[in-house]
Amino acid sequence: MKSAKSYIEKNKERFLDELVELLKIPSISADSAYKKDVLKTAEAVKKQLAKAGCDSVEICETPGYPIVYGEKMIDKKLPTILVYGHYDVQPPDPLDLWDSPPFEPVIKKTKLHPEGAIFARGSCDDKGQMYMHVKALEYMTSTNQLPCNVKFMIEGEEEVGSSSLEWFVTKNRKKLANDVILISDTGMIAKDVPSITTGLRGLSYVEVEVTGPNRDLHSGLYGGAVANPINILTKMIASLHDKNNHITIPGFYDDVQNLSKKEREKMAEAPFNLKDYEKALDIDAVYGEKGYSTNERNSIRPTLDVNGIWGGYIGEGAKTVIASKAFAKISMRLVPNQDWKKITELFKNHFESIAPEGVRVKVKPHHGGQAYVTPIDSLGYKAAEKAYEETFGKTPIPQRSGGSIPIVALFEKELKSKTILMGFGLDSDAIHSPNEHFGVWNYLKGIETIPQFYHFFTEMSK
Ligand code: BES
Ligand code: MN
Ligand code: MN
Repeated sequence: MKSAKSYIEKNKERFLDELVELLKIPSISADSAYKKDVLKTAEAVKKQLAKAGCDSVEICETPGYPIVYGEKMIDKKLPTILVYGHYDVQPPDPLDLWDSPPFEPVIKKTKLHPEGAIFARGSCDDKGQMYMHVKALEYMTSTNQLPCNVKFMIEGEEEVGSSSLEWFVTKNRKKLANDVILISDTGMIAKDVPSITTGLRGLSYVEVEVTGPNRDLHSGLYGGAVANPINILTKMIASLHDKNNHITIPGFYDDVQNLSKKEREKMAEAPFNLKDYEKALDIDAVYGEKGYSTNERNSIRPTLDVNGIWGGYIGEGAKTVIASKAFAKISMRLVPNQDWKKITELFKNHFESIAPEGVRVKVKPHHGGQAYVTPIDSLGYKAAEKAYEETFGKTPIPQRSGGSIPIVALFEKELKSKTILMGFGLDSDAIHSPNEHFGVWNYLKGIETIPQFYHFFTEMSK
């Protein structure tokens, strides 16, 4: 495979313009007010896949948002790569913390991105990274270098749990048959430290509701005499961690796969600077489970975090009131071997059991998924390693990530193939946060590296 460098150089303005157009559509899957825009984004992706050289492209209806499917099959005897990505994005709020509107992309230089970065919701997660694959395909087809078959499956519900994709995959095992799955929806250590994500955490997401009296009460007349749901909820939540920051839910750690000393030592070799990490977040110290390093805490250890908490009066000034109800949304990040449905059940039972008299507690499970780890001796991993060596001039470091793409474990179960996570984002790209961005350099480097993966994977499959 020839280097895509000069093709990219010639076409980079257009590559950026096309991504900018895609980023202008607010495809927020969580908010039904944006339904039209989500659907419009699916159409736009379909159009671009056809332009990039797919022979057949379709919008596949599901019980939820559609899946854009495209393929170019050149020879049944050659391997098939299945590319997965998502065209939906996270809600952009809080809007006032954005320096420019989330759906009016702008390219600005930053310290880490002197070549410029595209600021917009979805620029990195995942429209920008997904679109690298569309442009890599364009390069390969227009220069007659596509070495194998390719299938694209781009969904619109990743940020809300991929439930339609699960339905789609189990119904279309044959259509989706492949030799390897390729995803760019993760990050890498640094621009000069390429890495391949070898693990993703699982997830269990729940919402809890604590109800006290049947109506909001005067906090003077009733204060001290009835259970205050907000006081109780915060107490219950606080009790979910002990003084060492271990999670107290009975059985929570039972199935956790512990890493050997050797594996942990290997992990500790990855470049990491604690001071820089703290500085980037403006914190004076890190915080977490005793006995584990920061990198371990956010990748190989399970966690429990409140994602949102509300109830009572939060308007201007003061209102003296005891709210009737208090709520929280809680996520648990899980590691290999922990079953998300079992964990959800353990949480529910425990949370209900610690409710004191005077309140009623409801636990509502949202969604979840299993964790994933991929070996570094698979064909796909080795091909990816070679691809990075070609374009970065360095061997990439295998790294387990703390994020989740729950569908990846399902792919392995249903489609029996390994997933290779070639992510080109940086932790500082602020995915899910205000001012999300994606480096222009990273975007183009992805487009350059992906065709090399196709090449090496095909060669090594022979
Ligand atoms: N692309 C992310 C996951 C990710 C990001 C993994 C960076 C590793 C590194 C994905 O879009 C995402 O946000 N996933 C959700 C889970 C989903 C069920 C809402 C997550 O991790 O919170
Ligand atoms: Mn994503
Ligand atoms: Mn995301």
